Amino acid sequence: MRNQDNVQIAPAQGKLGVLVPGMGAVTTTFIAGLEAIKRGLGKPVGSLTQLGTIRLGKRTEGRSPRIQDFVPLAQLEDLEIGCWDIFEDNAYEAAVKAGVLEMGLLEQVKQPMAGIQPMTAVFDQKFVKNLNGPNLKPRGSNMEHAEMVMDDIRQFQARTGVSRMAMIWCGSTEVFHQPAAVHATLKDFECGLQKSDPEISPSQIYAYAALKMGVPYANGAPHLTTDMPALLELARERNVPVCGKDYKSGQTFMKTLIAPGLKSRLLGLNGWFSTNILGNRDGEVLDDPGSFRSKEVSKSSALEFILQKDLYPDLYEHFYHKVRIEYYPPRGDAKEGWDNIDIFGWLGYPMQIKVNFLCRDSILAAPLMLDLVLFLDLAQRAGMRGVQEWLSFYFKAPMHAPEVYPEHDIFIQLMKLKNTLRWMRGEDLITHLGLEYYD
Ligand SMILES: NC(=O)c1ccc[n+]([C@@H]2O[C@H](COP(=O)([O-])OP(=O)(O)OC[C@H]3O[C@@H](n4cnc5c(N)ncnc54)[C@H](O)[C@@H]3O)[C@@H](O)[C@H]2O)c1
Repeated sequence: MRNQDNVQIAPAQGKLGVLVPGMGAVTTTFIAGLEAIKRGLGKPVGSLTQLGTIRLGKRTEGRSPRIQDFVPLAQLEDLEIGCWDIFEDNAYEAAVKAGVLEMGLLEQVKQPMAGIQPMTAVFDQKFVKNLNGPNLKPRGSNMEHAEMVMDDIRQFQARTGVSRMAMIWCGSTEVFHQPAAVHATLKDFECGLQKSDPEISPSQIYAYAALKMGVPYANGAPHLTTDMPALLELARERNVPVCGKDYKSGQTFMKTLIAPGLKSRLLGLNGWFSTNILGNRDGEVLDDPGSFRSKEVSKSSALEFILQKDLYPDLYEHFYHKVRIEYYPPRGDAKEGWDNIDIFGWLGYPMQIKVNFLCRDSILAAPLMLDLVLFLDLAQRAGMRGVQEWLSFYFKAPMHAPEVYPEHDIFIQLMKLKNTLRWMRGEDLITHLGLEYYD
């Protein structure tokens, strides 16, 4: 521990295991990216941990180290990947099918990717209606499945020699579920696992296995996993950090850029219509109304919380917000999102903003996955447990303490993240007051 540090951070010694349920478009783009970056075939564009800097002290001090030089993070060379999927394809084959990256690049990283074979999955089609696959664990109770996942984790650790691990859900979006009685306490949940309670989803079984083994957990999808009392109790009991939900990568990222700007100028909003066409497997899964409902809820909340209609009724009390996702196979991963924003200004005069974002879903999500794994591991080594609200920056529906509303404004989220890093290292928090320059 350095003299001024607020927390003791264990060094990032040894290898870090990255455990991923779901080896589809995002995961394979992440893995191929790691291999490409290690070989100098590409840059980690979009990753705060790899390219970001952090200003320290006063603006006159000229101190802006790279984040990775300021806090001890695992190195890309030290990451070992282990995945589960319901399909048997190895990571190379899955990447080819996902069709995100060009074959020229994939061929150059084929060898390490072909070596990543998915472990058999815990799966229940009730939770992901539009999918089915052969690479499944044998029949068993939910508790037996959780124990099988724990065995997988132990074997992965023995095989790779990793000293630490973090799990990040990159599997399909499960159907919308509210917390039920079985999610109330850890005791209820463990009892539910024994009885295979129908309210317990596969993602909750993976998360239970991870937390039980002291492995941090992040949820890249919008469904209910650790955001319930039982698994939060387990996270606290085992001193494990958790975060989620739903990578903030494309349209919601744009929304949380634009909405704080409109509010900062006190411009009103009559309506915001967002629609997407998406043709990858994620799009196919979201074509089911249950899975779409999880996404719709997660995508809808950002505007409400950013615009605070209770504080600004003249501007935001009646705005109409609609979010659609259309499955359209020809587009594959190259999603196209349209936003029509009906705003009003001085004396109520109407104006419109149109956004047409021709993005690539997995290209935007892969760096978020990398940052989350590295920061969760940092949090774990710093002894931080439970919900990591400082990682809200990465999520559409950030987990938060029950007594506060979630912070969606991306600029506040980034300041919160960087101030947390400053706090860890005992540096002054940046308030942007700056009066001292004018004394
Ligand atoms: N790409 C983005 O920008 C983005 C943004 C926010 C959230 N997400 C979410 O991230 C997740 C992954 O996205 P993707 O584009 O890679 O989807 P994908 O469909 O390509 O991959 C998901 C994979 O998970 C597997 N899977 C499903 N259930 C499983 C289970 N129980 N155990 C193990 N594997 C399982 C599927 O077989 C599939 O290979 C989705 O839930 C998506 O909604 C993606």
